[in-house]
Amino acid sequence: MHILVTGGAGYVGSAAAAHFLAAGHSVAVFDSLVKGHRAAIPAGAAFVQGDLADVAGLDVLFQAQHFDAVVHFAAFIEAGESMQLPGKYFLNNVSNTRNLLEVMVRHGVRRLIFSSSAGVYASKDTPLVEDDPTGPASVYGETKLMMERMLHWYHQTVGMRYAALRYFNACGAMLDADGTPIRGEDHHPETHLIPLTLQVPLGQRDAILIYGTDYNTPDGTCIRDYVHIEDLASAHVLALDALGAGEGRLVYNLGNGRGYSVREVIDIAREVTGVDFPAVETERRPGDADRLVASSGRIQADLDWKPRYTDLREIIASAWAWHTAHPNGYGDAPAG
Ligand SMILES: NC(=O)c1ccc[n+]([C@@H]2O[C@H](COP(=O)([O-])OP(=O)(O)OC[C@H]3O[C@@H](n4cnc5c(N)ncnc54)[C@H](O)[C@@H]3O)[C@@H](O)[C@H]2O)c1
Repeated sequence: MHILVTGGAGYVGSAAAAHFLAAGHSVAVFDSLVKGHRAAIPAGAAFVQGDLADVAGLDVLFQAQHFDAVVHFAAFIEAGESMQLPGKYFLNNVSNTRNLLEVMVRHGVRRLIFSSSAGVYASKDTPLVEDDPTGPASVYGETKLMMERMLHWYHQTVGMRYAALRYFNACGAMLDADGTPIRGEDHHPETHLIPLTLQVPLGQRDAILIYGTDYNTPDGTCIRDYVHIEDLASAHVLALDALGAGEGRLVYNLGNGRGYSVREVIDIAREVTGVDFPAVETERRPGDADRLVASSGRIQADLDWKPRYTDLREIIASAWAWHTAHPNGYGDAPAG
């Protein structure tokens, strides 16, 4: 299939683009580079620089190329920022997704895989299943839920076939067959726990901050489920096959099914790096739920998805390999 990957210069999108190419598809990456990196785009993918806000530009692209499916990663992703700048998130995530959907419908493209998030759920003490109640703790999570609702109605009204994949915390780096890290995390600003933590043993940060120690969890810090980007990528390839085989509406969690507290992640990072670096406790940030852990049983049963990285040590080791080999990430610094 010929696939348009929006946000394919970003962290998860570039890994998925590489997996689609490896599975024999042809790929065009569409990215404004507001947050992404040209160097992350896999060799073999075409690159179109553009913004989803530009509907006329999208029309030209869809006129020039026939896409069999769209895989939609492009979005703003910082839950904390979304609590300060809600309009920025409603515009880029919700309104620009509506632009994409309208252009797809106009050009007869009716297959979409969408990057949703654990952020659509309310916190829960046991692993979340897809039918659990939603209840975002942040504007960011709300935008993901609104996009899922839009897809539901495009499915009902114009037959858009879609898979909403609810990722939990994406992490780790892609390694080649020799174990050399080829693609990793490089967000600007970085807000994710594992890369921030690894900046301390790298000498780029004095200490890792623990935001809040009074959450409703055994050690008082937030609990999250960490899933490797290669496992996310392989799920996208399976979801596209399933949509091709006639499925019309799929909603799947993607996680490891095991939660780790912030303190546990920091301890494992100390083990992996061999550095006993400092952590400093500070106030909560708005928009953080107590505990978000996935049950991914549905996609394992339906699509036979088998995550390769189930051990957080191995995931953090892959990230550490990337950050030590590329201490300045891709070497650019998107300003968006
Ligand atoms: N990283 C995670 O832990 C995580 C977890 C759950 C869901 N997600 C979702 O997965 C997707 C990818 O996340 P990521 O970590 O790779 O983020 P990222 O910021 O690395 O990638 C997003 C890409 O989209 C591009 N982009 C943003 N707005 C655009 C626009 N209007 N037009 C064109 N390009 C645009 C950026 O330049 C960037 O390359 C996002 O939709 C995010 O909400 C990520």
